Amino acid sequence: MKKMTLLSLVAIAVLFTACDEKTKNSAKEMASSATKTVQDAATNAVEATKETAKKATQTVAKATESVKEATTKAVESTKETATKVTEAAKEAVSTENELGKKTYAKCVVCHGKTGTTKALGKSAVIAGQPATDLEAKIRAYKAGTRSVAGMGKLMTGQVASMNDETIKAIAKYISEL
Ligand code: HEC
Repeated sequence: MKKMTLLSLVAIAVLFTACDEKTKNSAKEMASSATKTVQDAATNAVEATKETAKKATQTVAKATESVKEATTKAVESTKETATKVTEAAKEAVSTENELGKKTYAKCVVCHGKTGTTKALGKSAVIAGQPATDLEAKIRAYKAGTRSVAGMGKLMTGQVASMNDETIKAIAKYISEL
């Protein structure tokens, strides 16, 4: 009986040891498989992050390109609009100053179409002088009080019949030549 008990105890001990070994092994296996899973997940995550970053960079590059394009287009259309506005303004001014233009026709023979001829080789160039200066000079010729090259009388004849509106208009016209 005693022998039997002893044997049983040994058997149990062997069984336990075996069991323990099995448990250890399976725990090891589980641990290593868990480690692998974690490693795989980490690798995947890194890979996915890389991919996302790459895509984001591409998207940003594309967006930058679109912004550049849009800016270029906007600048171009602004330029175009500005040119159109300038042209329209020029046209408006020239139609506005029909009177000045019409009156200048009789000055062309001596001062030139562009106002850059020294009349009879004596006068100053009138084109581009400030309108207020031209106005004052024309008024002085009209009043007979101006004669720079001794030919004031000749100019008096040219402007004697001009009223205020015409003097202003022609002065403005010549100043813009
Ligand atoms: C026959 C030629 C002749 C014609 C036409 C003529 N001018 Fe003159 N202009 C002169 C001469 C010459 C002078 C210089 C007069 C002087 O001695 O001050 C002069 C001077 C001027 C000056 C002064 C320039 C300066 O800065 O001293 C103005 C402004 C001027 N003329 C405007 C006109 C205008 C405007 C007309 C047309 C309505 C006109 N002239 C037509 C010959 C002419």
